[in-house]
Amino acid sequence: MPWTSTLPSRPAPRPDGSPAPSPVRVAVPRRLLMCRPQYFEVSYRINPWMDPDRPVDTPLALAQWEHLRGLYESLGHTVEVIDPLPGLPDMVYAANGATVFDGKVLGARFRHLQRTAEGPAYLDWFARQGFTDILWPEHVNEGAGDFLRAGGTILAGTGFRTDPRAHAEAQEFFGLPVVGLTLVDPRHYHLDTALAVLSPDEIMYYPEAFTPGSREVLRSIFPDAIVASGEDAAAFGLNAFSDGLNVLLPKAATDLIRQLRDRGFQPIGVDLAELLKGGGSVKCCTLELQGARD
Ligand code: ARG
Repeated sequence: MPWTSTLPSRPAPRPDGSPAPSPVRVAVPRRLLMCRPQYFEVSYRINPWMDPDRPVDTPLALAQWEHLRGLYESLGHTVEVIDPLPGLPDMVYAANGATVFDGKVLGARFRHLQRTAEGPAYLDWFARQGFTDILWPEHVNEGAGDFLRAGGTILAGTGFRTDPRAHAEAQEFFGLPVVGLTLVDPRHYHLDTALAVLSPDEIMYYPEAFTPGSREVLRSIFPDAIVASGEDAAAFGLNAFSDGLNVLLPKAATDLIRQLRDRGFQPIGVDLAELLKGGGSVKCCTLELQGARD
């Protein structure tokens, strides 16, 4: 089923001003890639969440990760797993490993030396799985951490990690229009920490994480978006995965959970506290293989 056909667009408010009914929500099964946090630790600091002096409980991280994986499977999604490599503690954040739209794979080229080797490791997995349309990029991009698909458009983050020149590279490779968005708050260094796509034409986001111009752009494309409080954004509530009906997000994001329910979604609160110590949660641990054949 084409990805864009999942939902009707949001109905306009009724003439008497009463709110439009929520659209019928339909969960569409996805194919996901995850990486077990076997070698997860916080041994360096490349974002403000990481504190190498704060111990990480790796067995607990593994248990929290297994719970997330189990949830995906219980919701009918297919989870593929890539082997983690020792010495690459951030490899658990699979969202950064590549970007996959319409079965085409754009490799990731990391900003920091500590993560550089993850790019080829992920591309190698794709090649071994039989993906053929693969591009090793010229410019720095941190995969689906900064490239999110909303219907026929790619929302692309920059400001901290992904080079804006990578936006043009993605547009050319995928043949989809790219809307560039600039992040300004170091706590929200990847787009998927400040914005989540809920359906082809619905998002939730934290406006303060963006430049004034980018906020304007988001307001004009998504006038009905769910807006997150600073508290929920700081709880990584926007680092969420949506299948069109179920939305998995950190359970601490209570106001977002309420807003999602009001819109007819089924929010599912998840505890990934150990992985938050590296600056990531649900969405960071998940790479959607969008448009890939089984
Ligand atoms: N420690 C990792 C980094 O700073 C966390 C990555 C989180 N991933 C994400 N998709 N936001 O690169």
